[in-house]
Amino acid sequence: MRTQLDELKTHALADIANAQDTAALRDVEVACLGRKGKLTGVLRGISSLPAEQRPLAGKLANEVKKALEAAIEARRVTLKDREQQALLRDEEFDITAPGQKPLVGHLHPVTQVQYHVEDVFRSMGFYVLDYPEVETDYYNFEALNIPKDHPARDMQDTFWLTDGHLMRTHTSPGQIRAMEQFAPPFKAVFPGRCFRYETVDASHEHTFYQVEGLMIDEDISVAHLISSMKTLLTQIFERDMNVRLRPGYFPFVEPGFELDIRCLMCGGNGCSVCKRSGWVELMPCGLVHPNVLRFGKLDPAKWSGWAFGLGLSRMAMMKFGIDDIRLFLGGDLRFLTQF
Ligand code: PHE
Repeated sequence: MRTQLDELKTHALADIANAQDTAALRDVEVACLGRKGKLTGVLRGISSLPAEQRPLAGKLANEVKKALEAAIEARRVTLKDREQQALLRDEEFDITAPGQKPLVGHLHPVTQVQYHVEDVFRSMGFYVLDYPEVETDYYNFEALNIPKDHPARDMQDTFWLTDGHLMRTHTSPGQIRAMEQFAPPFKAVFPGRCFRYETVDASHEHTFYQVEGLMIDEDISVAHLISSMKTLLTQIFERDMNVRLRPGYFPFVEPGFELDIRCLMCGGNGCSVCKRSGWVELMPCGLVHPNVLRFGKLDPAKWSGWAFGLGLSRMAMMKFGIDDIRLFLGGDLRFLTQF
């Protein structure tokens, strides 16, 4: 019994001394003192010894147990200390290490175009205004000469709030708001988000961006309209622009036009973008309808004006050569980081 215990003790002490980290030491501890450990086995065997040998055997085995426990504890302190030192060394903060470059975002392509348009107009003395996205029926339709059962409402179905408000279908309600807000003569642009109940495809979105332009003064004519449009398009596209007007119908302008530009892709020779015509429809415009002036509390006998509605989303597509409007709101960084 004594030799067996001595041998066990010698081996165990050697294992303890050899353990290189606290996890290995724990394994040694379990192998000796655990429920299925070697010493535990010896202790269990004592009960089967002859009665007179039991007290001595018990005493010896307990001494070995105490010695091993003490050795394990001492080794554990050493190893823990060593591990803590290593941790401190590894986590040392090196202030000379180069920094990590943070991911910096940038403006959305539509916002870039919007800011550019705003700059151009500001330089020509226009106010840049901001009007609500949630509108009343009055500002979005009624005051723009589109009464309740007017067929023009069919082209601009939208999302209705339960309280009777609606998501504006165009930036034109700002025309009335601007006339209420400023004394004529004045000129202003108001960019913003518009909404329509629309089947989404490559060129239609339920949410898109427009910028509205409005100029109110005495004796405004179609000549003013054309020259203003040409100037601003030349500035925005940063090249000489050719435009043409076709008649277009909107209840809030009279006369109303569709303004086309020479196709930027093919220079007018005809391509898939301009459907072989050489012209691309860019913005509807016209002279402000007398009824709309009246809704804006202006006397049509004295005041007149022009207005246009430019599709910002569409313009960004043309400027950057983007062929699917859905990409703008898709949130795909692989798309966005290209601009
Ligand atoms: N509000 C019209 C639309 O969104 C565009 C427009 C604006 C037409 C101003 C004429 C004058 O379709």
